[in-house]
Amino acid sequence: MRASAAGSRRAKRAGPASDGGFGACYNEPAMAILKVARLGHPVLRQAAAPVPEREIHSPETQRLIDDMIETMREYNGAGLAANQVHTLEQIAVIEVLRNERYPEAPEIPLTVIINPVVTPLTEETEDGWEGCLSVPDLRGIVPRCTAVRLQALDRDGQRIDLKALDFFARVIQHETDHLNGKVYLDRMRDLSTLTHLAEWSKYWLGAGEPED
Ligand code: NI
Repeated sequence: MRASAAGSRRAKRAGPASDGGFGACYNEPAMAILKVARLGHPVLRQAAAPVPEREIHSPETQRLIDDMIETMREYNGAGLAANQVHTLEQIAVIEVLRNERYPEAPEIPLTVIINPVVTPLTEETEDGWEGCLSVPDLRGIVPRCTAVRLQALDRDGQRIDLKALDFFARVIQHETDHLNGKVYLDRMRDLSTLTHLAEWSKYWLGAGEPED
């Protein structure tokens, strides 16, 4: 979740590093910033598959999670779903740190969710601004359910079962939508609020709570 330009290419996954023929070298590669799929890439419109529990501890899955966390932080996202990094597995990461630009925005500690099931706990919805790393430079007002139950696994395979409210509930809905092939634009009731970031700052700031 959140708008920003996407950059670096996806790095190759773990494997022995070549040292040009001077003997075997098995350096553990550093975490990588992954390339983020942008709107129009079919991967954003496909449903991700559940991760088999036995695969959660695999080096490949753990590495993917690490890379997703690093990518989310690099682009100042509030969350990132695996579809956005070209991987159709039901994994999303969420984190909101205190931001001086938006002191009102609530903090969300780093949360890794695998195979999430989201159940609305109320019919009440609230309008709020959203952006998305896959829809760079745009923002729009999206109605979201204000309270949801989240059932998922964490990166250790432990069960998560929590009630999330307001902004945390919004981010959970945004990220799990990605895992189902949806983007926030699909949830907007009125596309007239869709705005570029510069125009958002100029015309809309103060018209609603900034969400990131
Ligand atoms: Ni997004």
